[in-house]
Amino acid sequence: METAEQNRLLTQVGKGTPGGELMRRYWHPVAAAVELRDKWTKAVRLLGEDLVLFKDRQGRLGLVEHQCPHRGASFVYGLPTEGGIRCPYHGWEFNAQGQCLSQPFEKDNLEFRQKVGIAGYPVQELGGLVFAYLGPKPVPLLPRFDGFVVPGAIRLLGHAHIPCNWLQIVETSLDPVHAEWLHGRSTEFLLEQEGVKTHISATHKKIDFREFEWGITKHRLLEGQSEEGDDWKVGHPIVFPSMLAVGNGDEDKRAYVFQMRVPMDDENTMHFWYHAYTPPPGASVPPRLLQEVHLHEVPFRLANGEFRVDHIDGQDVMAWLTQGPLANRTRENLGASDQGIAMYRRMLRREMKKVERGEDPMGVIRDEARNQRIDLPNEKGKKHFRGSFRTFVSRTHVRFSPIADALGLVFEP
Ligand code: FES
Ligand SMILES: [Fe+2]
Repeated sequence: METAEQNRLLTQVGKGTPGGELMRRYWHPVAAAVELRDKWTKAVRLLGEDLVLFKDRQGRLGLVEHQCPHRGASFVYGLPTEGGIRCPYHGWEFNAQGQCLSQPFEKDNLEFRQKVGIAGYPVQELGGLVFAYLGPKPVPLLPRFDGFVVPGAIRLLGHAHIPCNWLQIVETSLDPVHAEWLHGRSTEFLLEQEGVKTHISATHKKIDFREFEWGITKHRLLEGQSEEGDDWKVGHPIVFPSMLAVGNGDEDKRAYVFQMRVPMDDENTMHFWYHAYTPPPGASVPPRLLQEVHLHEVPFRLANGEFRVDHIDGQDVMAWLTQGPLANRTRENLGASDQGIAMYRRMLRREMKKVERGEDPMGVIRDEARNQRIDLPNEKGKKHFRGSFRTFVSRTHVRFSPIADALGLVFEP
């Protein structure tokens, strides 16, 4: 349970708030690179700021505040130039750093141009995604986690705008027991109502959480499992502050699965499900699968407004959103299953303090040599490849991917 004040502290992402300043120390994904292939701009809301991702005529990306400083029209409808973007209203031109380059009807006046500069933030591409950094300089490195850089992978990206605060989403990742109920028993109940008797849930015997360099690893021991197994010994990580990494398969057939939660503002989150699959040796892979990140929106409501609890990711979204746009932590009652959540909140407060002291919080990397490729701990033999691959696809958001069938053919020819 938290006080109302603590709940605000933990959840706010606006500029100048402790949480907002902490979040500004990290790179956040804002688009798939392919989204800017046939389009010149994309509206982005990130950490309470309205921004425009744009491409200039040289193909370089920039991210600037969305309203023109002249009289406020949006650069979402802007015109690309060699060196930046022009406002659609009267043609004022800005570069990716937010400097005004020209004001067509005005007599050229350097002082006036300098006065009307806007915010321009660094962006970088990695693994087919575009990441943005809104924090102070010097800009840290964009961490090269394994799934982003593994060569020869088939990549897909599910996305959904979830109208709730980011923290209640991340807290799911620190809560192993929910899988037994939300994804196990709830699915069994759903099938029971369709006349199918099944048993897919597994009882948790023990859970554990360990801090490591990049965040927290989460460990579970299910009924019938050995403590020597990877689920207990290795676990999988919550990469501070807001990414879950899960789902490696075996050595020769792997899935890198990242759930990235990008705070748009205090009550809205952009959720990305990023999957990178390395095909087994000898698999025949259509070249088009390897060319780009394949995008799909993840539907989580039916036409009548009810939540879609017929897939695992829809079940998660239902749990997040029924907590309200901002979970009321003054009324919760944490128990033994919530020890990871309590640990994570302590970590969040500790890292906010570091930022207040002017230090780098955990997970900020500035060493090029260490950033060649960061391998995250992850248990082998996760459900991605246990049993039928097509069953996995049918139970998750992957079934909405345009490459779902093609992926099935690669992994289960
Ligand atoms: S409002 Fe942008 S140039 Fe006038
Ligand atoms: Fe879940």
